[in-house]
Amino acid sequence: MIREWEEACGDCYGPGQMKGVPDNLTARERMVRAASSQPVDGPPVWIMRQAGRYLPEYHEIRQLGTFMETCRHPDRAAEITCQPIRRFGMDAAVIFSDILVPAEAMGMDVSFEEGVGPKVGPALRSRADVDRLHAFDPEESTGFLGDAIRKVRAELGEDRAIIGFCGAPFTTASYMIEGGSSRNFEHTKAMLHGSPDSFRELLERIVDALVPYLGMQVESGADVLQIFDSWGGTLSAATYRETLLAPMERLICAAKALEVPVILCVNGGGHMLELLADLGPDCISIDWRVDPDDARARVGHRVALQGNLDPSALLASADTVSRLTNETLDRFGPEPGHVFNLGGSVLPKTPVECVQAVVETVQARRGTP
Ligand code: CP3
Repeated sequence: MIREWEEACGDCYGPGQMKGVPDNLTARERMVRAASSQPVDGPPVWIMRQAGRYLPEYHEIRQLGTFMETCRHPDRAAEITCQPIRRFGMDAAVIFSDILVPAEAMGMDVSFEEGVGPKVGPALRSRADVDRLHAFDPEESTGFLGDAIRKVRAELGEDRAIIGFCGAPFTTASYMIEGGSSRNFEHTKAMLHGSPDSFRELLERIVDALVPYLGMQVESGADVLQIFDSWGGTLSAATYRETLLAPMERLICAAKALEVPVILCVNGGGHMLELLADLGPDCISIDWRVDPDDARARVGHRVALQGNLDPSALLASADTVSRLTNETLDRFGPEPGHVFNLGGSVLPKTPVECVQAVVETVQARRGTP
């Protein structure tokens, strides 16, 4: 398939130039195929945290309740999910929710304070604390998320991809152990190194909970799953391998068994791309510090790559953003297996016209909206 692509397409995207690409791909097909390294007419585009604070219409809905109430309200969550698609026409809609929704369903108190970030309590510090977490039935405890996904499908139709997601075991555990955001993850790393049995048990319980939670999202209509390991990049490759290989493989393997492409995003994971590719995801998201050529040389074609424009670049002018988007597309080249995204989550102060510039530039290059 890949050889065929290289012979057929030379170094430019455009309709009709590639063998093995069906005519008139829908955005949904483009997203699912690109995340699985199959040929497409040009990269799909979506943006991490595209449903969020840089949009004025998001703030309007958020005034109606707290952040967690908004997550639990299927009409509001569906509306927020669709807002960026209506404005910009990304290929995929990422469902509005949070990686801490399962932590709440496992028995922790989760809240978000303006300017402070998440609060998760009571913080887990001992084996007895870990043992107080419980499994949950995803339909019973988080059915609102399934309802929101079905509403998004009804609103956006069959032609747009829906991305479901969860936090990775390490990132989820870090919020549970620290009780919120952290700079150095002191308590988390103290448990990881000092009480490895308790830490392992915590990771296992999290994976046990996440597998049916992801299953429920796919059953409700998610076409792609992304696993966010936002803080996994703070670990050495050796520690990641020793501590996280087994739970991550189990999670990824179970997610792939749902027959959707699985994207793994480890912020700051550039030092261990080979290891991340070995975990078996269909696609890995690379941050802006990683050179796409280098990433491709290191992981070959066994995974697709997602990324990787620096989110801070979107604080420049729209013209600059267009130029940098084109440069990023050039660096990935024409090979199959590229999903265009930022190298991290979009920043709340990002001007709307700069998000527009990213999406329009990717669409213009491939010649289809
Ligand atoms: O648009 C989307 O991507 C879908 C929704 C989504 C949210 N959070 C909504 C949200 C997704 C995919 C997430 C993932 C998430 N949540 C991550 C991984 C991605 C990353 O940025 O690394 C993490 C670490 C969290 C935890 C979290 N949620 C934090 C640290 C915060 C507060 C600070 C911040 O960065 O926003 C949140 C709150 C949150 N999650 C908001 C949104 C839109 C803002 C809440 C508000 O309206 O006040």
